[in-house]
Amino acid sequence: MSEQVRIVEVGPRDGLQNEKTPVGVEERVAFIEALLAAGLHTVEIGAFVSPKAIPQMVGSDEVLRRFSSRTDGEFHVLVPNEKGYEAARAASAKVIAVFASASEGFSRANINCSVAESIERFKPVVARAKSDGIEVRGYVSCVLGCPYDGEIKPQAVIDVAKILWDLGCYEISLGDTIGVGTPMKARELLRAVAGHVPMASLAMHFHDTYGQALANLYAGMEEGARVIDSAAGGLGGCPYAPGATGNVATEDVVYMLEGMGIATGVDMAKLVEATNEISKLIGRPPLSRVAAALNAR
Ligand code: HMG
Ligand code: MG
Repeated sequence: MSEQVRIVEVGPRDGLQNEKTPVGVEERVAFIEALLAAGLHTVEIGAFVSPKAIPQMVGSDEVLRRFSSRTDGEFHVLVPNEKGYEAARAASAKVIAVFASASEGFSRANINCSVAESIERFKPVVARAKSDGIEVRGYVSCVLGCPYDGEIKPQAVIDVAKILWDLGCYEISLGDTIGVGTPMKARELLRAVAGHVPMASLAMHFHDTYGQALANLYAGMEEGARVIDSAAGGLGGCPYAPGATGNVATEDVVYMLEGMGIATGVDMAKLVEATNEISKLIGRPPLSRVAAALNAR
């Protein structure tokens, strides 16, 4: 495989949204700067969600204002409804992400509504974004299993992915929210969804709870997927996905891709520096195997 892969760094959002130690605006800005300096280009930097639900993301408006006019990166923020949309637009968002679930149980727990209701909430958000010239990415969570509903059929993922795609999302990110997937299942899922949304517009957002994320990514790449969501240091998790741990670590993804002859443009030493710095702030060592290996040298 010698093609290009696009990495969407989600550490400043997914990575920090579940951390017990709150990370302030200035520290988040410094983390994002360090990620950009390491060569990452597309970074999810915050969420315009209820401060009661996710206090860790308070100040996302301030964070976004620091980056929205920058041209050295692409900055994404999560938006669950019109209220969030208005705040994101006021902070000059250029790319937002709406987030739905393939399962009813997670939808209820995460955003307090059914999957169908969530789609109704997203419709005006996507329509307004389009008329305001803001691009919209769409997430589908629990694509390989749900902490509440158990196994999820590919058809449930297809249904939601297709709705988001038809609404006008430019890319659909498939979230293995609790990291239960295994390679053949990931591969089958990508093949199934790619029958309805172009493979080039599918992203793999795999959490690494069971240590399967890299294998699942590789399986997805064999199927043709070329967009990977990852978080520096393997940070991440969702408070509404009990037991789930972090996203696949960006260092581990970069190491695998570079080893396969796929250039990422990422400076590993600088990325590990960014990871070490944020790990110090949250008070625990990085989960990334590559960071651990390089730090031990
Ligand atoms: P709700 O309680 O049903 O909303 O929450 P509501 O409309 O009834 O409003 C309740 C209160 O929230 C009101 O305030 C609203 O103003 C406020 P009060 O009058 O009580 O003071 N509110 C807001 N405040 C700020 N920004 C907003 C907003 N909307 C309402 N946008 C809601 C529904 C969706 C808001 C809530 O459940 C929520 O914020 N959930 C977010 C959960 C979240 O962020 N989860 C993590 C991200 S998803 C994820 O991690 C998965 C992903 O990584 C992919 C994967 O791994 O699968 C993306
Ligand atoms: Mg996630």
